[in-house]
Amino acid sequence: MHVALSAGPEFREVDYLTQVAFVADLIHETGARRVLELGCGLGFNILELARLCPQVEIVGTDLLERHVRKASARLRRHANVSVLVGSHDRLPAEIGTFDIIFAVETLCYASDRPAVAASIAQVLAPGGLLVIFDAERASNFSSLSRDTQLAAMLYEAVTVVEDGFGAADAWADAYKSARLMTQRIEDMSHATIPGLRRLYRYGARYFSDPAVRATTALLPWALKTNAVGALLGAYLMEGDFEGGDGSTSPALRYRLRVCSKQRSR
Ligand SMILES: C[S@@+](CC[C@H](N)C(=O)[O-])C[C@H]1O[C@@H](n2cnc3c(N)ncnc32)[C@H](O)[C@@H]1O
Repeated sequence: MHVALSAGPEFREVDYLTQVAFVADLIHETGARRVLELGCGLGFNILELARLCPQVEIVGTDLLERHVRKASARLRRHANVSVLVGSHDRLPAEIGTFDIIFAVETLCYASDRPAVAASIAQVLAPGGLLVIFDAERASNFSSLSRDTQLAAMLYEAVTVVEDGFGAADAWADAYKSARLMTQRIEDMSHATIPGLRRLYRYGARYFSDPAVRATTALLPWALKTNAVGALLGAYLMEGDFEGGDGSTSPALRYRLRVCSKQRSR
């Protein structure tokens, strides 16, 4: 899933490019020369970044060889781009160091957060920036009702986030131990709502209209479960769920985090 981030109340197709537009602005501001996208999938973000920043060397890594193959084919016309297989927790040192590393909805798949943070820190240049856009569990998640937690876990299951979205503080220690200092955290959940509501409408049609279901008959089961995720996403991100302490909050949050790597003294 790649979530659209909308500035206004209506979804627009271009909202899928908000994350990469943020990275492009940062490249222009800082004069970054080498940029790495972690978990680049089929190359959606890199394709746009290569257009916006043709002067920058862009590398993408992904765990899955088939994603790397498809992304490489899609990006073959861009001489400044390369895509390789690499897991977040074991990034090959030979790829060199980067001025900016970014990750859109991919670090949520990590189970060993300290190993991931250390591996990223190893290939981030001193003074370099790490930019993360990802979903997280709300900070009071464990005090929400069992039903709300189950709904969130079902969403995590259909989006294959096996260990569940971490809470913000689950990552904070890992980054700190890798000397990656958090400079900025921004809650962008509100910006996901127009896109998630649109997905909700698709999910509802899947379950209410046999004709729509028939068109998906040949799709693999894993893709059909996206309809369940579509029904749940907006509900979990904007719902008002009561916590054990009487406070109310959504179950999931979507955040931007920017960390910097300290320069050695
Ligand atoms: C939801 S997709 C996001 C793709 C892309 N970042 C985007 O915004 O369009 C998540 C991607 O993370 C990759 N991934 C998951 N675990 C990974 C790991 N440990 N190392 C590298 N990539 C991983 C998956 O293969 C998938 O391509």
